[in-house]
Amino acid sequence: MTKQFAVVTGATGTIGRAIVAALSEDFQVLGIDRSSGPGIIAADIRDRAALERVASDITADGGQIGALVNNAGVLTMGSFFDLTENDFDEVFSVNVTGTAVASQVFGKRMAERGSGRIVNISSSAGKVPLADQAHYCASKAAVIMLTRVMALELAAFGVQAYSVCPGAVDTALFRQCLDWTAERDGVDAEALLAGWLAPSRIGRFVEPEEIAGLVRYLTRGPAEAMTGHAISVDGGVAPW
Ligand SMILES: NC(=O)c1ccc[n+]([C@@H]2O[C@H](COP(=O)([O-])OP(=O)(O)OC[C@H]3O[C@@H](n4cnc5c(N)ncnc54)[C@H](O)[C@@H]3O)[C@@H](O)[C@H]2O)c1
Repeated sequence: MTKQFAVVTGATGTIGRAIVAALSEDFQVLGIDRSSGPGIIAADIRDRAALERVASDITADGGQIGALVNNAGVLTMGSFFDLTENDFDEVFSVNVTGTAVASQVFGKRMAERGSGRIVNISSSAGKVPLADQAHYCASKAAVIMLTRVMALELAAFGVQAYSVCPGAVDTALFRQCLDWTAERDGVDAEALLAGWLAPSRIGRFVEPEEIAGLVRYLTRGPAEAMTGHAISVDGGVAPW
């Protein structure tokens, strides 16, 4: 039987590891990250040539790419007047351009075969504004629209595309924001955390496995008519 591969970017991160574990039930999973880790292919998602080599290795071996999860992302902090061009460029080049490049490289193989699923990890920050994250929020909103356009263009090739918008997940990326704000404001990070989680109807962090479960559902292939949607897993912070 032909091997079905799922490619997951940002695979050494907290959410990425949970997605790799969940997808392993249905696919042979191939993790990509710019940080090395066991069984991970070291590559930057903006490096088209490196991604092309990964895709060619899969197909040359007779494998098919059934799913791509664009999970790699970066976040820095800065109040609006302090953000530099470099801050915008770095966050947009990974979160938006990198997601687009990986989708072109692996999505092309799906389109040639006439089926596939692409899941882009956006954020509740792509739907709800957050202070000190203008560049990040704008990049995640861009991911939502990028996904909609991909869904529109790729439907003709049997490829569906979705955005998943997680709320706060207790990861290195999240702690970095919390600590940055706590230090700037001279407040205790744990006290600040209570306020940050307050907009959530569930009053707690979202677990990585809750995101991974939705990603698994989407990569297994829901109704063909479901494509382009931006689905929140955020405890109701952005209930749309
Ligand atoms: N943690 C949260 O609260 C939260 C909320 C909403 C959305 N997200 C999104 O979820 C995704 C995963 O985040 P996380 O919290 O697990 O963070 P994380 O820092 O643990 O994981 C992100 C991973 O992406 C990798 N990465 C970054 N830039 C890359 C590049 N150019 N090429 C290849 N790999 C790269 C990093 O090395 C890291 O392993 C991100 O897209 C993030 O924006 C996170």
